[in-house]
Amino acid sequence: MIIAPSLLAANFGRLAREVSRVNASGADRLHLDIMDGHFVPNISFGPAVVRTIRPLTKLFFDVHLMCSIPEILLEPFAEAGANQMDIHVELGEAVTPLLWKIKALGRKVGLAINPPTAIAMVQPYLEQVDALLIMTVNPGFGGQSFIYETLPKIQQAYEWRCERALAYRIGVDGGVDFKTAAECAHAGADTFISGTTLFGRPNLGAAVRKMRQVVEAARLERHRARRPAAANRQPALDAQLP
Ligand code: DX5
Ligand code: ZN
Repeated sequence: MIIAPSLLAANFGRLAREVSRVNASGADRLHLDIMDGHFVPNISFGPAVVRTIRPLTKLFFDVHLMCSIPEILLEPFAEAGANQMDIHVELGEAVTPLLWKIKALGRKVGLAINPPTAIAMVQPYLEQVDALLIMTVNPGFGGQSFIYETLPKIQQAYEWRCERALAYRIGVDGGVDFKTAAECAHAGADTFISGTTLFGRPNLGAAVRKMRQVVEAARLERHRARRPAAANRQPALDAQLP
């Protein structure tokens, strides 16, 4: 299970210290939200900020591009230190060339989907992606409430992964707190992006540990509830993922 604090909820006035907090927290990744003021009604930060914080940690940088023209940003973010870049399926015909370009840059490929978009839209790309990012709020701002109608998408993404023997990660992003994280884990998510809930606590390490605990417990519960006894001899694919 991957726990990824989202830097959007950090105190931008002391970014270096915030990155050190994440570094020491036991989190697996740092999630970086890039907003262009067009694809979403907000602006965050660009490659210069990512480049500045890159030497402060060895953590995997997951760069979530909420941008209308990500093609102009892939190289700058790759050079700035992104390990993965996520583009949105809502970009339509641009999606395939974008996925190939991210791969060609040697970075992990992520595909994000907004709450109102049907999960069927990501189906043609499943073989090409390392991660699906299921938005559980409408992107643009931190601190919003989790949209429960997105839970069946997680289940569908999980079922497709089993049926097609694929290994993409299933991430959830937006309104992820200890309760909704457990519900997402129960539905099949394995990557938990959380801003307000994690950065909002004075002890970020304790918050990361607690989130890991609740999602691991939910995953075990899921396997207990759904797997027939004989099938338990073969661990499920997601049980093999860290
Ligand atoms: C939303 C962003 C999220 C956001 C999550 O547009 O993509 O990554 O930072 O923040 P919280 O956990 O506060 O909803
Ligand atoms: Zn995000």
